[in-house]
Amino acid sequence: MVLKDSHLLLGVTGGIAAYKSVELLRLLKKAGANVHVAMTLAALQFVGKATFEVLSENQVLTDLWKDTQSSVTHIDIATSVDAALVAPATANFIGKLACGIADDALLTTMLAVTSPIMICPSMNTDMYQNIRVQRNLDILEQDGIHIIDPDAGVLACKTVGTGRLPEPWFLLDRLCAVMAPKDLLGKKVLITAGPTLEAIDPVRYISNHSSGKMGYAIARAAEKRGANVTLVSGPVSLNPPVGVDCIRVESCDEMGRAVFSHLEAADIIIKVAAVADYRPVDTRVLKIKKSIDSKALTLPMTENMDILKQVGKLKTEDQFLVGFAAETNDLERHALIKMKKKNLDMIAANIVGADDSGFKTDTNKVKLFLKDGSSKDIPLMDKEKVAHILLDTIIEQTG
Ligand code: PMT
Repeated sequence: MVLKDSHLLLGVTGGIAAYKSVELLRLLKKAGANVHVAMTLAALQFVGKATFEVLSENQVLTDLWKDTQSSVTHIDIATSVDAALVAPATANFIGKLACGIADDALLTTMLAVTSPIMICPSMNTDMYQNIRVQRNLDILEQDGIHIIDPDAGVLACKTVGTGRLPEPWFLLDRLCAVMAPKDLLGKKVLITAGPTLEAIDPVRYISNHSSGKMGYAIARAAEKRGANVTLVSGPVSLNPPVGVDCIRVESCDEMGRAVFSHLEAADIIIKVAAVADYRPVDTRVLKIKKSIDSKALTLPMTENMDILKQVGKLKTEDQFLVGFAAETNDLERHALIKMKKKNLDMIAANIVGADDSGFKTDTNKVKLFLKDGSSKDIPLMDKEKVAHILLDTIIEQTG
């Protein structure tokens, strides 16, 4: 969301990882950014200028004397961008930027950038760990520049160690975090997501269709906005969001224990998880065998703890509690009953069972109901966008 219609400077320096910048540029464009690319002469040895020109739909800056439409093109770019990122950033570039040297088009442009800067070092492990390179990175960090640590793995020089440029999706994610407003800075947000899984025997269980997408989207959005996020997640196939403390659980019982152990510290609690209301009375140690004599099987069930209801009882005046309601009918009536019964500050009600909303989908249609009687309709949109609107509403309510 934060990249839509933004203006960015993508700097590319001369490392083998320059090929990843092409994909990064593609992702930035897909997210709606207008991107100006500046390359060092060494970068041109790895990837052609034409590739960046075609993908960015802008002239690529490599030479202050040849590529500029006016004598101050680099200044126009530097002052118009909402953020600048350099990926990959070589030791040479890092050293010169730390010293304020401006001996090529990229460095000259970078020195005039006043918006947030993100630098992504990538090089051989010994070079990266070299005390002089680390000192230069420290200088840049102290100057307020965001440094993205390289990954570890097999490097182009055939050694194994730290120095790999992280994958483009990760760099995109971190750039969004750099650019997002930090309106949740200092807040502790506790989120639950996904289904719970209640074991019948060692091979079977009762669960539901929650994919975790809605809860994970809220965790990602809150982290980008500066919150300290703990995500208690039922079994899902999603990767833990970057920068989030993700606690994996299976059953309602485990989810409850994880929630209660983090409850006291939380400022905002958002319960998105689809928790099983019932579980088998006892989990069999051995697999239940198919009966030859009987066509029916009765499974005695018992009620699970209602985690949200318990949290509603324990919450303090300073804590803001949000529940979700998954309904197939009478959305408003059911949501309001749940909000009252569970002592919530807000409930996010969504109709489930549609092709584009509720379980598993990438989009959701939600109505927010607040304790003061007001409500807010969130029309069908990406769960990522729903997450930001939900957080906007919480921030409005908590001041
Ligand atoms: O994960 P996705 O595929 O993206 O789908 C998202 C979603 C549809 C699961 C999500 O948007 C949603 O609606 N989550 C709540 C689902 C649900 O279980 O609703 P409920 O009406 O059964 O429960 C109401 C609230 O009580 C929920 O906040 C739930 O977390 C909580 N609860 C319920 C039962 C229980 N034993 N303990 C609880 O804490």
